[in-house]
Amino acid sequence: MFTIKNNQLYVENLSATSLAEKYGTPLYVLSESSIRENCRAIKRDFMDKYDDVHAAYASKALLTSAVVKIIEQEAFHLDVVSGGELFIANRVGFPMSKVLFHGNNKSDEELAMALDYGVGRIIVDNVGELERLSKMAELQGKIVSILFRITPGIKPGTHDYIATGQKDSKFGIALDEKIIFPAIEYAINSRSINFLGFHFHIGSQLFDVETHVAATEVAISLIKAVKERFEYTIEELNTGGGYGIHYTADDMPIPAAVFTDAIMTTLIKRCELEGLKRPRVFIEPGRSIVGEAGITLYRVGSIKEIPGIRTYVALDGGMTDNIRPALYQAKYEATVANKASDEKNETVTLCGKCCESGDILINNIPIQSIETGDLVAVFSTGAYTYAMASHYNKHPNPAVVLVNDNTSFEIVKRETYEDLMSHDIVPSYLK
Ligand code: LLP
Repeated sequence: MFTIKNNQLYVENLSATSLAEKYGTPLYVLSESSIRENCRAIKRDFMDKYDDVHAAYASKALLTSAVVKIIEQEAFHLDVVSGGELFIANRVGFPMSKVLFHGNNKSDEELAMALDYGVGRIIVDNVGELERLSKMAELQGKIVSILFRITPGIKPGTHDYIATGQKDSKFGIALDEKIIFPAIEYAINSRSINFLGFHFHIGSQLFDVETHVAATEVAISLIKAVKERFEYTIEELNTGGGYGIHYTADDMPIPAAVFTDAIMTTLIKRCELEGLKRPRVFIEPGRSIVGEAGITLYRVGSIKEIPGIRTYVALDGGMTDNIRPALYQAKYEATVANKASDEKNETVTLCGKCCESGDILINNIPIQSIETGDLVAVFSTGAYTYAMASHYNKHPNPAVVLVNDNTSFEIVKRETYEDLMSHDIVPSYLK
């Protein structure tokens, strides 16, 4: 969905230059076709291929009302992880029965909201939450469907900050007999709980299936143990997301189908072997749905050459609209959108405008001859950028624009300086 015509970068059928002129910079730009195509690949290669399987979009990657609408139209479920995400999903009219509510520290207010809205599944993270939820539902005379998030004890190969499957994790219930089995027993016996099964999410930006397969094996052993101990049949297994995407040439993503086929093959084979009913399966991709569907456009400002060291090219955004390089040392690729086919014969460091030396978007990147006023496009910024944006140095958040063929829509308005002051209060005694 990103092509070059007449030396200009295009998003579907609109030039990056025209989008920047219309909406200003920095600007998040999303290709709607790309989001839909990513959903459809999962539908084709997973949902249509196997019986009783579903995909939920992990909305933490990028949540706006328009994105929720697209996800709904593509027949996905929706994973939310906070009262805020849940509120937005409900406001937009997403079917609450197709919502999966996550979180390692859900408050009573958030649980009450989930019960009130009637969300389809609550993914219970810990024993305390189970007990609180069970009592709250009982008081309201409701039955709530839950899965336990388990910590399978599998460490994936990714940045430590986005690895969650290992034993030492703040997420999920440890697979310790003294913890997991009493929790399961409680859930089975609770009149207000409909205990469906287990969930794991081992990490994000993963490039091989081994750890998903290993975690699936762990889950099957647990499903078997539950059957033997409690004569209880687990109906559902949610295998999380984590499918890696292409940020730079060093990334070798594999299609989602390779993950889902590996998970399903393992599950089908092992369930047959153990005489277990194959559970309903959910996956929960976030990054792989929206990541490569987005770019960020920046205008080039000051250029500073430090002889023998490097050239800093300062952009009009930075760590406030994309914290990932500073937080995870994440790598990106970029181009000069208005000189897209020119040879990349310069090496520069693209930095942001925050008052932080760590506000570097891309270190030493080969790029076209670059001048103040040029338009830089950073690729694969659809996931975990706008979602993680901040107001550091009081930079207003950029607009998010959705491109559909040759039309564009501002789906999140650019913030103004007024917006930055909208929650700011001076006590009367200071006036
Ligand atoms: N399900 C659960 C329970 C999750 O915690 C996550 C991501 C996903 C699904 C979706 O994972 P994905 O398919 O997007 O890899 N901010 C970090 C990523 C944090 C991921 C948190 N959980 C980053 O920018 O890399």
